[in-house]
Amino acid sequence: MKRNSSNSLLFLLFLLIHVILNSCIISVEARKSHTKNTKPHKFHKDHGHGHLAHSPSPAPPPTQTQTQTTSFDVLSFGAKANGISDDSKALKAAWEAACKVDGAIVKIPAEHRFLIKPITLQGPCMPNLTLQIDGTLIAPPAISSWPKSSLFQWINLKNIHSFTIQGSGTINGQGCNWWTTSQIYHMQKKGYYSKQIPSMKPTAVRFYSSNDVTVRDIKIINSPLCHLKFDNSKGIKVNNITISSPENSQNTDGIHLQNSQDVEIQHSNIGSGDDCVSIQTGCANIHIHHIICGPGHGISVGGLGKDKSVACVSNIMVNDVSMQNTLYGVRIKTWQGGIGMVKNVSFSRVQVQDVKIPVMVDQYYCDKHVCKNQTGTVVISGVNFDKIHGTYSYQPVHIACSNSIPCTNIDLTDIQLRPSLRYRGFQQALCWNSYGKSQGSLQPSSIDYCLRSGGGYIKKIARSHDSLCY
Ligand SMILES: *[C@@H]1O[C@H](CO)[C@@H](O)[C@H](O)[C@H]1NC(C)=O
Ligand SMILES: *[C@@H]1O[C@H](CO)[C@@H](O)[C@H](O)[C@H]1NC(C)=O
Ligand SMILES: *[C@@H]1O[C@H](CO)[C@@H](O)[C@H](O)[C@H]1NC(C)=O
Ligand SMILES: *[C@@H]1O[C@H](CO)[C@@H](O)[C@H](O)[C@H]1NC(C)=O
Repeated sequence: MKRNSSNSLLFLLFLLIHVILNSCIISVEARKSHTKNTKPHKFHKDHGHGHLAHSPSPAPPPTQTQTQTTSFDVLSFGAKANGISDDSKALKAAWEAACKVDGAIVKIPAEHRFLIKPITLQGPCMPNLTLQIDGTLIAPPAISSWPKSSLFQWINLKNIHSFTIQGSGTINGQGCNWWTTSQIYHMQKKGYYSKQIPSMKPTAVRFYSSNDVTVRDIKIINSPLCHLKFDNSKGIKVNNITISSPENSQNTDGIHLQNSQDVEIQHSNIGSGDDCVSIQTGCANIHIHHIICGPGHGISVGGLGKDKSVACVSNIMVNDVSMQNTLYGVRIKTWQGGIGMVKNVSFSRVQVQDVKIPVMVDQYYCDKHVCKNQTGTVVISGVNFDKIHGTYSYQPVHIACSNSIPCTNIDLTDIQLRPSLRYRGFQQALCWNSYGKSQGSLQPSSIDYCLRSGGGYIKKIARSHDSLCY
């Protein structure tokens, strides 16, 4: 009896995987037939330097003229542009040639698809380098074709200064196969499934140790994990981009910031299976505005302080954001037991529609069912929620601060949230161990008496936590 039921469970799981994998294959086939008719390029003119498109070895870089920007088209560097052959070498060659020239442009031309394997495009390069993406870059669809050593990211941009990515093109991470692997993983752990599946999933585009970087106009879609990540970087501008992957894609943050400062993200449309923007430790002077966010988990600071780590985040401004159908709106989350400080955060003019919990501070963040209670916390002080308007589907405000050290200077100003008509079973606003002011028009009225006044006695503890951040 027992064996029978586990056998049929196994069969069901097998069926599930089969269906999921098949749906991925169908989309691959559709793509193939779509690209079949593209004419092969024989010659490509590039400032009068004709190169054989199919020449196997990288062509020499065109010479720079004083009057023209020099452009380096991947087609001139041997790219097949059929979406099936590996064009990584061509992209790398075009990059390396352009890197040596002041104000150069690497061109990914429109109406072509380029299959790119995991790649590192590295600097330092000459200033004002541009990667002009008008066509489509696609990642290898099969997980097995990813080298085990390159699972951290797909397109790795490293040590680049004064650099722009722009264009009307698309970066497609082909994440479909990866999203389903979480399920397979789960089975693997339980001994149901033995096929080797990597534990890591790649971020689509990652900047590391770069500054003065602009990313504009492009689309980044279907990443296996995070879509656009900035790590150890400074002076970032993101403008007018679109990030999109389905709601059921797992852990696919839109934009992920870590150890990065002086960042402006604006006029963009971000929807995926996780945070629209995630702000992690080491971030300061971040301005996020005019963003449409959803589906996903909203805009988050954290989770910070995992495994008793030090976390420091300061000067975060989020304004003029619109969210629809997200799990959270604007949120700060920390693990119990961390140390360090979050200070000077402001969320204003946030329009929400059917958002489960629009305003959230959670110092008990936990990705498992239960986490151990611990003393010590990342201290939170100076968080302003102003003009958060719209509808919620579960709880309007949830501010749960640490038992050991309360949050201070939490301000709720002009919060007008109505229960969404599509749901029932609403909770009242909750504030736990949090000090601050409520002012302006507040709706529902449970927000009125949510915060405690005072909390001045925390100043000294807060200062000692803050001093760990410098
Ligand atoms: C880069 O381009 C900008 C704007 O075109 C220009 O002002 C700047 O001087 C250039 N920087 C360098 C180092 O060439
Ligand atoms: C935003 O990006 C789109 C798509 O690339 C482009 O067509 C449009 O002109 C851009 N808008 C602005 C204001 O730059
Ligand atoms: C708080 O952060 C904002 C930017 O988000 C900045 O303009 C302001 O100077 C900061 N305030 C303090 C006291 O550092
Ligand atoms: C942690 O503390 C809370 C509140 O004091 C208590 O309700 C909860 O059961 C504790 N959890 C664990 C896992 O000990």
